[in-house]
Amino acid sequence: MLNIALPKGRLGETVYDLFERAGFDCPSIKEKSRKLIFENEKTGVRFFWVKPSDVPIYVERGAADLGVAGKDIILEYSPDVYELLDLKLGKCRMAVAAKKDFHDETVKTLRVATKFPNIASEYYEKIGRDIDIIKLNGSIELAPILGLSDVIVDIVETGTTLRENDLEVKAEILPISARLIANKSSFRFADREIGLIAEKMKELVTEHD
Ligand code: PRP
Repeated sequence: MLNIALPKGRLGETVYDLFERAGFDCPSIKEKSRKLIFENEKTGVRFFWVKPSDVPIYVERGAADLGVAGKDIILEYSPDVYELLDLKLGKCRMAVAAKKDFHDETVKTLRVATKFPNIASEYYEKIGRDIDIIKLNGSIELAPILGLSDVIVDIVETGTTLRENDLEVKAEILPISARLIANKSSFRFADREIGLIAEKMKELVTEHD
């Protein structure tokens, strides 16, 4: 059985459809329930739903042989895993945003609220800007509105959250998409099965390019 960690939520469902089309289906996953693990002996796969930011932990430690995680999570946590394929799903971008009237006064330390302290620090180090990181766990857009921070570093997908909170993108940091990742020793010992899945998924992903 290959253990596969899927990110819980809409992206996870789209990603499961890709596995299904690649021939690794597991119909029970589509039944409405609170179950977290689903397996199909015929196709030899066991899927489980994981909080998106936990996927690399399961894969790095070998509880999952394969997993799907956003490039944001991979860059933030730098897990010791193989990144096999860009699934070109869940596309969004990491960006700096702030109130529309905000102008950076470079003499002051910039207060940056984010769920991604490593990505934010690396970005500002590269451009030589002195910052103070304020690590939050969600609703990041509130920080500049309430004066907790000057800017945020966060994911922008449709831009709706920024727009509806009178914020705007000030700088783009990097494009993000979902990646297929593999545990390093699983990749060595189950190279045939993993190779087959990666190959089939690659064909499907390039069809859509
Ligand atoms: C993410 C992100 C933004 C929003 C961007 O939040 O942190 O808030 O989605 O999407 P949009 O550009 O399409 O509006 P998420 O939904 O993960 O919730 P969070 O507030 O818990 O981080």
